[in-house]
Amino acid sequence: MLTLMEAIEARRSIRRYTERPLDAATAGELKALVDECNREAPLSLSLLLDEPQGFSSLMGRVNFRGVRNYLALVGDKDADLQEACGYYGEKVVLRATQLGVASCWFGSFFLGFKKDAITIGPQEKLLIVIALGHGAEEGRPHKSKPLESLYHTAGVEDAPEWFLQGVRAARLAPTARNQQKFLFVLAEGRVTAQVVGGGAFSRMDLGIVRYHFEMASGVQVST
Ligand SMILES: Cc1cc2nc3c(=O)[nH]c(=O)nc-3n(C[C@H](O)[C@H](O)[C@H](O)COP(=O)(O)O)c2cc1C
Repeated sequence: MLTLMEAIEARRSIRRYTERPLDAATAGELKALVDECNREAPLSLSLLLDEPQGFSSLMGRVNFRGVRNYLALVGDKDADLQEACGYYGEKVVLRATQLGVASCWFGSFFLGFKKDAITIGPQEKLLIVIALGHGAEEGRPHKSKPLESLYHTAGVEDAPEWFLQGVRAARLAPTARNQQKFLFVLAEGRVTAQVVGGGAFSRMDLGIVRYHFEMASGVQVST
């Protein structure tokens, strides 16, 4: 199994999948992690396995093919859950990567995703979907903004190695349309992360990059 750092480096968004199902041990590990997230997170995560209907109605409208498994994140429609969604979704994505399971965040579900298999309460809404499965393509590393444009250190001449390690890991993270609209700030020994500019899903992205930073640096980030 890949280490978490190896998974951060190896992960790519994969949009085409083979028909091979997840084996029982892999599915069991992912289910256990999803249960753990459901105990901690202010939203609910559901792992749908062998459920090809959701994505099938999107044929021709998106470049995803053969998606038979996915994670659906659902939460209170009036709450601001974007960041938590990013944080917990990426926790599952990286564990999947460690287990050899490919993934891709999917924010375009408004184009006609079939939600019938997902439990959504009357006060809830679907926040995001993440496709999972065995990849039928390799994927490529994404283009990135220069590292220096993604952080700022106040009153510190040389950014410490642990901080740079965190920013490097954040730079490898998936963001919607690869927008990378985030900034990590080190000031008075504390790390904060913020959205720069904004755009659709930028707060969800912030949760994703925060998870990468924390795992790579071992240091907690406030937002
Ligand atoms: C919140 C979010 C929503 C996304 N929605 C879509 C989507 O609807 N369609 C798609 O093809 N890719 C989607 N992506 C994948 C991004 O395009 C991808 O992460 C980015 O281009 C970086 O590439 P990489 O993940 O391979 O590193 C989404 C990513 C995130 C984080």
